[in-house]
Amino acid sequence: MNRPRRLRTSPAMRGMVSENSVAARQLVLPAFVADGIDEARPISSMPGVVQHTMDGIKRAATECAEAGLAGIMLFGVPKPEDKDATGSQALAEDGILNRAIREVRAEVGDSLLVMSDVCLDEFTDHGHCGVLDPDGVVNNDVTVLLYAEMARQHAENGAHVVAPSGMMDSQVQAIREQLDDADHTDVAIMAYGAKYASAFYGPFREAVGSSLQGDRKTYQQDPANSREALREVFADIEQGADIVMVKPALPYLDILRQVRDAVDIPVAAYNVSGEYSMVEAAAANGWLDRDRTIDESLLAIRRAGADIILSYWALEWAQRQR
Ligand code: PBG
Repeated sequence: MNRPRRLRTSPAMRGMVSENSVAARQLVLPAFVADGIDEARPISSMPGVVQHTMDGIKRAATECAEAGLAGIMLFGVPKPEDKDATGSQALAEDGILNRAIREVRAEVGDSLLVMSDVCLDEFTDHGHCGVLDPDGVVNNDVTVLLYAEMARQHAENGAHVVAPSGMMDSQVQAIREQLDDADHTDVAIMAYGAKYASAFYGPFREAVGSSLQGDRKTYQQDPANSREALREVFADIEQGADIVMVKPALPYLDILRQVRDAVDIPVAAYNVSGEYSMVEAAAANGWLDRDRTIDESLLAIRRAGADIILSYWALEWAQRQR
């Protein structure tokens, strides 16, 4: 009789036959830094996550390096009064994100990868990822020019990796060309290849103080589609992406597996704000064992094929392994 239970009899036996694992070196912490605040500001829909001060984000980055993480993904939160229709603070040399990249890089050097979000939604007053035409639709080609300039500034300020998340057509190509022209040939592009128009980004809106007018369905992908994800990912690779990302992670593990099987470059997955908040809310009610659920979530994302995981639990997970 076939007895699969034989291989589950002891921790040593289970360890020997275990197929997948999570390591700190594969994890990236997404983190928020806000302009003009004196102390960290809690994000109520993401208990445990805050908008950092400049000093706070530098401390967080140091902790990430000490815990052996791969990197920190920086998101800038401008003052509400600094948001405008074109997201001009994104391109201001002393804008919050540019400053944070500069200061964090000076703090961590090469001991941690400094990654930056290349997108306009944190900076626009309408909350869309680009500039709008009079009819309210995001103008692809104008937006892409802004992304390219934004990425160049991030590289100038010390970003090791830039991460375009706006889902504009040709954004990777425009950024690659601009980076190369400016001699930033070593700066890598982690492209949000398959990014869905997802309700799971809800808490992120509060995290960056953004209220979105309308929805993002004209540029982010339809949750009903999977073949489209492969088209997007292949287009990004052709345009020069070094790493492609699938986002969200847990509700899209099938997409992650398909992308992993289809490409030969590293694949990242973003365990997004809503995935975080669901577990935190259930754990706070005593409905889930928090640590076990976190461990299982990260392991499931690895099993589905992610080489790299962006997660708000990255730092605490790594610290818990010590
Ligand atoms: C765009 C961006 C978003 C997230 C990462 N980059 C927001 C969006 O596209 O709506 C969401 C991440 C999360 O929900 O944790 N700047």
